[in-house]
Parts: sequence; C-alpha cells; structure tokens
Amino acid sequence: MESYGQVVVLITGCTQGGIGHALAREFAANNCLVVASARSLTSMRDLDQDNRFFLQELDVLSDESVQNVVSNVVERYGRVDILVNNAGIQCVGPLAEIPLSAAQNTFDTNVFGTMRMIQAVVPHMASRKKGKILNVGSASVLAPLPWAGVYTATKAALHSLTDNMRLELRPFGIQVINVVPGAVKSNIGISAISSYNHMPEWRLYKPFEAAIWNRACLFQGPKTTPTEEFAKKTVATVLKKNPPAWFSFGRFSTILSIMYHLPLYVKDCIARQVFKSMFETNSTPRFSSNR
Ligand SMILES: NC(=O)c1ccc[n+]([C@@H]2O[C@H](COP(=O)([O-])OP(=O)(O)OC[C@H]3O[C@@H](n4cnc5c(N)ncnc54)[C@H](OP(=O)(O)O)[C@@H]3O)[C@@H](O)[C@H]2O)c1
Repeated sequence: MESYGQVVVLITGCTQGGIGHALAREFAANNCLVVASARSLTSMRDLDQDNRFFLQELDVLSDESVQNVVSNVVERYGRVDILVNNAGIQCVGPLAEIPLSAAQNTFDTNVFGTMRMIQAVVPHMASRKKGKILNVGSASVLAPLPWAGVYTATKAALHSLTDNMRLELRPFGIQVINVVPGAVKSNIGISAISSYNHMPEWRLYKPFEAAIWNRACLFQGPKTTPTEEFAKKTVATVLKKNPPAWFSFGRFSTILSIMYHLPLYVKDCIARQVFKSMFETNSTPRFSSNR
C-alpha cells in the first residue's frame, strides 16, 4: 500500500457517534491514512467502503489484540506516525460503595489500556526517531464533582502518565500530547447508563439515587460541543509541527480550566452552587431508570 508522504494515524475506540469516529473522519479529511479501530467492526461499518480507512478490531484490554493490530499496521504501512489513545469508559457511582471490579475495569481500560497501546507502538516510533502520541484526558479532572470519582481518577492518572511520558519519550523524538475534552456529544452517556444498570443497590447513598443516575448523562445536553467541531480543532492542533503539550476544548472546558487554579474550598463552593441538584437527595431523575 502506497503511504509515502501521508501520515499514518492509529486511533482506538472509533465507534460511530463517538469522538474517535469523528477524529478518524477528520484525519482522513486531512489526507492522513487512518487505521480506525474498535472492539467490533460493525460499530464502524459506515467507514467500511471508504478506502481512506483501514479498519481493525481492537480491544485495549487484550495484549494479543493490541499486538496483532500494531503488527498489521506496521506490515501494511511500515510505521505509525500518530497514535490516538481515545478508547475510554465512564464509571458512575459513589466511591464508598462502587464495586471494586467496576473501578478496576475502568482503570484497566482508561489507564492500562492506554499504556498497553503505547508500549506496543513506541518501539516502532523510536526506531524512526519520530512520532506523536495523543492521549484523550478529561476536563473532569480540573474541578471535582460527585459521583464519577473513579472515572475522574483514571483520567487524572492518565494526565500524570502523559506528563511523565512526554519527558521520557523526548529522547526518542516522540511528542506526547494531552487533549482534555470538555463536554462533547458522544455515546458516553448511553454507555454509562447501560453499565450503571449493573451496579448494586446503593446502601448509604440510596437517597441520592436520582442525582447519581443523572450524573451519567450530565454533560450530554443539547448545548454539548458536537464531535465534529471537537475533532476539527483537535486534528488541526495535532497536525501542527510543534503541537502544544496540553490543550482543552469543548463545552465547559474554559470554566473548568479556570476553576483548576482556584483554592479547593472555592471549587467545592462553586460545584455545590452550580450543580446544586447533584447534591440533593430524592431529586428527580432526568432519564428513565431500569433500576
Ligand atoms: N464525550 C465527552 O464529553 C468526553 C469528555 C471528556 C473525555 N472524554 C473521553 O473521550 C474518549 C472517547 O469517548 P466518547 O465520549 O467518544 O465516548 P464513546 O462514544 O462511548 O466512545 C468510547 C469508545 O471507546 C471504546 N472502548 C471502550 N472500551 C474499549 C476497549 N476495551 N477496547 C477498545 N475500545 C474500547 C468504545 O467501544 P464500544 O462502542 O465497543 O463500547 C467506544 O468506541 C474517552 O476516553 C472519554 O473518556 C469524553
């Protein structure tokens, strides 16, 4: 396959309707060769007939799956120029009661899945002394809100890993970038709700059930940033010769970035005022619940 002069981009989590899918389309629109991956090929079937995409089934939880895909890409194109670690899951529930298995699965996906991808791709990038890694963090790390503490902790870990990796991979010519989305329209709320339906009945937190439930879709309202808009901004930034180490985009990203610099007690006060209903017992569920 002729790939001379074109940038080869490998993206995880490209299910239709999500950020990864929009990034795949935007990289392709910028003349990149895009390896779009997802847990199931059917979730990307709209890209099937378009020869700008090389579609791969990839589960970031599996060594075998990751190694297979990276080998396939290197065999076909000879390199990976940009790795986009986009695959991720939400996890909603009170920290004092959430099953540890759910917390572990979230860390396995969001943190160790990303490390698995990086460890598989870095040797190829290092051998060419060239490459970019884009990790998809989250603006939820910038200011605390209740009921998604596990998810936020995984993204905080990812932000920290990204900052360390940037220093460690620099000698090998690899640039590491953290994109920190605010609220972007995707399938994340729907997925969060379907995993929430498997949570046990809360004990201490039963009176907060509706507030916790509402957290799953909190940032997926009508004013949420469209995935295409987010993808345009992200791809334009990443394709620059010297992209910034960190950038944030999407609804609420500016306010959350400002809140990040405030003292903790001020952040807590703002959170309690602005997101009042999240702290209320027996509030009204905004979405129908199967629980
Ligand atoms: N949307 C937002 O407002 C927002 C804000 C901050 C950060 N983010 C981050 O943005 C990234 C993309 O999320 P999204 O909002 O686009 O949500 P999404 O539509 O639910 O997309 C998540 C993608 O990750 C995939 N995935 C989950 N587990 C995986 C695994 N084990 N192996 C491979 N792929 C896996 C999902 O596949 P399936 O379809 O098979 O489940 C899906 O393709 C995530 O890292 C998320 O944390 C999103």
